[in-house]
Amino acid sequence: APASLTINGKAYPSDSWTNVPPSILKHYGRQLHIQPNHPISITRKLIESRFPGFKNHNALPPVVTVGQNFDSLGFAPDHPGRSKTDTYYINKSTVLRTHTSAHEVDVFRANESDGYTISADVYRRDAVDKSHYPIFHQMEGALTWDRNDYPSNQALLDQIKADYDKLPRHDLVVEDPNPTFHPQRNPLQEQHHSPEEAEIISAHLKRSLEDMVVTIFNEADKALAAAGHSSEAEKEPLKVRWIEAFFPHTSPSWEMEVWWRGDWLEVLGCGVIEQPLLIRSNVESRIGWAFGIGLERIAMLLFGIPDIRLFWSNDQRFLAQFEGGKPMKRFVPFSKYPAAPRDVAFWLPKTDSTPTVAATPASTSSAPSSAGGQSTEPAITITDTPAFHENDLMEVVRNTAGDSVEDVVLIDRFTHPKTGRESLCYRVTYRSLEKTLTNEEANMLHEQIRQELVTKFGVELR
Ligand code: PHE
Repeated sequence: APASLTINGKAYPSDSWTNVPPSILKHYGRQLHIQPNHPISITRKLIESRFPGFKNHNALPPVVTVGQNFDSLGFAPDHPGRSKTDTYYINKSTVLRTHTSAHEVDVFRANESDGYTISADVYRRDAVDKSHYPIFHQMEGALTWDRNDYPSNQALLDQIKADYDKLPRHDLVVEDPNPTFHPQRNPLQEQHHSPEEAEIISAHLKRSLEDMVVTIFNEADKALAAAGHSSEAEKEPLKVRWIEAFFPHTSPSWEMEVWWRGDWLEVLGCGVIEQPLLIRSNVESRIGWAFGIGLERIAMLLFGIPDIRLFWSNDQRFLAQFEGGKPMKRFVPFSKYPAAPRDVAFWLPKTDSTPTVAATPASTSSAPSSAGGQSTEPAITITDTPAFHENDLMEVVRNTAGDSVEDVVLIDRFTHPKTGRESLCYRVTYRSLEKTLTNEEANMLHEQIRQELVTKFGVELR
């Protein structure tokens, strides 16, 4: 392996943590969120428009320190999100950001505005399917009030209430069954906030985000109607529910789910900013809220885009369909090329402890599903087998076959009753967005993947 990794002209010494593959670096600098007329960029602008007066940061580069990505936000030293199976490490102290929160402390420290957004590409090792891609885009939003701007705490409280009253009204049905605070999981930060302060900040946060989704989903409905789609589901009212969540950098915290056309969709994560974070940012007199939203999932809903790989396409049949500033139009899918499924079955290498395959919820990763909008299903994690993690297989597939693979699913697993050895079988579905893959092409890609699994992880093919 090379002794250093060059990213954007800068060489970073590599070490035993380095795990950024070429398939990721190849996309460096695409910045879909600022490409004019790209659906990710149109989505970003639509959301930004609901937060007038916020400063929009849209060009922060993706290489950050472990300190920025995790420590600055109060991630515990053993937080699972830090693991090499979830995060792309350039080296032990440098990563590709896993979320836009990595810039919160820097932006707070610059202290240029009460409200801001940060939109950017973020990177996570993850599954291969139609709604997961190892690079996606998030928008961070935060709003704070400075105690120093007010003669008394009462005056500050009155201001937040007045700001709350000025927020646009909506007729959304909102389910919010839980009390704001949970004594263990989501306590009031009692050293820093009065209960009234935390309550009104939470109310302001929720109503601001409810307004945003009303805007988004009304646009999506209009585009659907214009495209001549109408169904019974369409007549169901838009509903929102607030679910208790946990983030190291907010308390209390929530995820928002939206009921739209017959499904609950996880949309974002948010909460009242942990005061130690603001203290570290030298703005200890500020209090407020933050949220993080995944742009791909929203764009897929807005435009009816069926496969996340399309965002990376340079195909004019895709790109020419979008135009910012015009009313939203539904994406018209171009012809689908045939799928070529191929299975690979293998024995995991024998280890001292018997490997067990366990399903763990995706929320153990660096950041919960909502803000990525990426993982709704529990990921399968192969525990006790340091030599093999499901994300390693995903990466072999991505590095070998790139965007020619639509998804990878575990279809069978089996423990040999006598030897205790574990066998896994995955189905890899090959399907290009751009052309028909011949049988020979699919076979060749599949054989390469099989061999890589043997050389990289010492599996025994079945
Ligand atoms: N950083 C979180 C994530 O990526 C989202 C988030 C942002 C949550 C801001 C709370 C506040 O999932």
